[in-house]
Amino acid sequence: MAFPPRMLENTERRKRRDLEMRVWDPAIRIGHWLLAFAFATLYLKYKKFPLHPYAGYLVFSVTTLRIVYGLFGPGAARFSSFRFSPREMLRYMKNAWHGHAEYHFSHNPMGAAMVYALLGMLLINSFLGLLTYSAQQMLGPFGTLIPDVWENWLVPLHSFLGHLTACLVLAHLAGVIWASRLHRENYALAMLSGIRRIPRAVVIPAGALRLVRRPQTGTTRQKIRDWLNYRHPVLGCVILMSIIIASAQQLIGLLVPLNRLLHAY
Ligand code: HEM
Ligand code: HEM
Repeated sequence: MAFPPRMLENTERRKRRDLEMRVWDPAIRIGHWLLAFAFATLYLKYKKFPLHPYAGYLVFSVTTLRIVYGLFGPGAARFSSFRFSPREMLRYMKNAWHGHAEYHFSHNPMGAAMVYALLGMLLINSFLGLLTYSAQQMLGPFGTLIPDVWENWLVPLHSFLGHLTACLVLAHLAGVIWASRLHRENYALAMLSGIRRIPRAVVIPAGALRLVRRPQTGTTRQKIRDWLNYRHPVLGCVILMSIIIASAQQLIGLLVPLNRLLHAY
């Protein structure tokens, strides 16, 4: 999977000849964008009830499904394809610092650490949210099960972890931009299309990824994709992120009036 940095640099120079592979399957991509949207809704509108718990239910469900998929799913989605020892993480960080980190066909060691941290925090805090909802409003799947005095510690803990998760998300976005620069490929676009350009020297387990036939060059769509993806990966990533964030804000704005019509559960 990994190979010496110098080789990577040569490979990167030959990037146009690298193979394009379907790394992120539809389940990963749909799950990711649902999770991102649900998180943005519940965090930006945390005073809106029952919108906040409903978005929280979605986060809890998608995170749980993602963990099951990570244990039993295929290819790059499987946790075993991005499991690294602390030593490998340190080596990657050191190489990345010098601008020539090795390439991995799934999440890289730093990306993997962030993915585990995000999934862990989202799971724990959405579960704490369920307990808080029960203690405070006797609602949610736990109903009246949680004693109301628990509210005293559940509310501050749930809030603190919620804000901490938001900090992790900011670090995640910075990491995506940084990885786009390091590996000269637009990572945000890859999470939309599922496609990444894999250097030929990277060893990929049999059947883990599917080769994508390179589309005809010269079409306008292809030119835009190449510009966003390979010619200006960092700028392309920032442009795409800004479009996604602005669209999500608009969509969340549309959900707010719906909040009054929702039946609390
Ligand atoms: C504009 C916003 C966002 C963009 C552009 C984005 C982009 C990405 C990219 C490119 C990856 C793959 C990283 C890699 O190759 O190692 C990723 C993974 C991930 N992101 Fe985001 N992200 C965004 C927002 C969020 C938010 C708000 C959350 C959660 C609250 C989130 C949670 C995750 C998780 C859990 C993964 C792992 C995906 C998996 O393996 O299933 N992301 N994101
Ligand atoms: C990962 C998912 C979640 C995150 C990041 C999150 C985050 C937050 C944040 C930041 C607050 C505001 C605290 C403040 O005023 O500073 C909050 C409050 C609250 N959340 Fe969540 N939440 C999540 C999931 C849930 C779920 C699933 C439920 C219930 C089903 C829930 C129920 C509540 C309740 C009842 C409060 C009110 C606490 C108060 O009285 O202010 N949350 N949450």
